[in-house]
Amino acid sequence: MTDLLASLRTAERLAEGAMLLPGYARDREAALLAEIQTISNLAPPRRMTVPGGGEMSVAMTNCGALGWVTDRTGYRYSPTDPLAGEPWPAMPPILAALAREAAEEAGYGGFTPDACLVNRYQTGAKMGLHQDRDEQDLTAPIVSVSLAAACVFLWGGLRRSDPVRRFALQGGDVMVWGGPSRLAFHGVDRLQAGPRFNLTFRKAG
Ligand code: SIN
Ligand code: FE2
Repeated sequence: MTDLLASLRTAERLAEGAMLLPGYARDREAALLAEIQTISNLAPPRRMTVPGGGEMSVAMTNCGALGWVTDRTGYRYSPTDPLAGEPWPAMPPILAALAREAAEEAGYGGFTPDACLVNRYQTGAKMGLHQDRDEQDLTAPIVSVSLAAACVFLWGGLRRSDPVRRFALQGGDVMVWGGPSRLAFHGVDRLQAGPRFNLTFRKAG
C-alpha cells in the first residue's frame, strides 16, 4: 500500500527553479544508508559549534572533496575533517550518481557536486530557517535527499520574512533547488521521532 501511495505522489514545482521529487531515491534508500554508515565510521557525525557559541542539534559529517564546517570563527568549506586533520571520505559513486540524476530530472543538466553534507537528526533535532550561501558558485543547484524518518520541511522565499510552507518529507524524497530559488530560505521542524538523515549535495568550490 505504501508503495502504491508513494508512486502516486508526483513531482511538484515548489517555486521557479525548485522541485520536490517524491520517492525519487526510494529504491536506493538502503544502499544510501549503508554508505552513510561507512562514511560515519571514517568521519563521525558531530554536533558543531556555530559562531555565536551554541551547538547545533543536528550532527554532521561530510564526504567529497570539500566539507561544510562551522566553529567559533564562522561557516566555511574545508578539504579536511577538522577532527582528524585528514581529507573527508570520498563521495561514493552511488551518491554522486543520484545527485546528478535528480538534478537532471529537475532541469539542471551536468551537476557535478564536490561536497556532500551528511546531516543526522535524532528525535528533537531541528534546523532553523537559513539560506545555503557559503558556496562559490551559486549557478549550481542544491540536491537534498531525505532518508529514514519523516520530517516537516520548511520552504520559504528569498527573504526571511516571506511566507513559509510546511510539508512532510518521507525517506526517499528528493528536493532540488537552483536558479531563481538558489538562495531560498529553508529549514526542518523539530523531529518528532528519529533518526532521520539528509544528504545535501552542493558545488562548493
Ligand atoms: C540543510 O538545509 O542543510 C538540511 C535540510 C534537511 O535536512 O532536509
Ligand atoms: Fe540548507
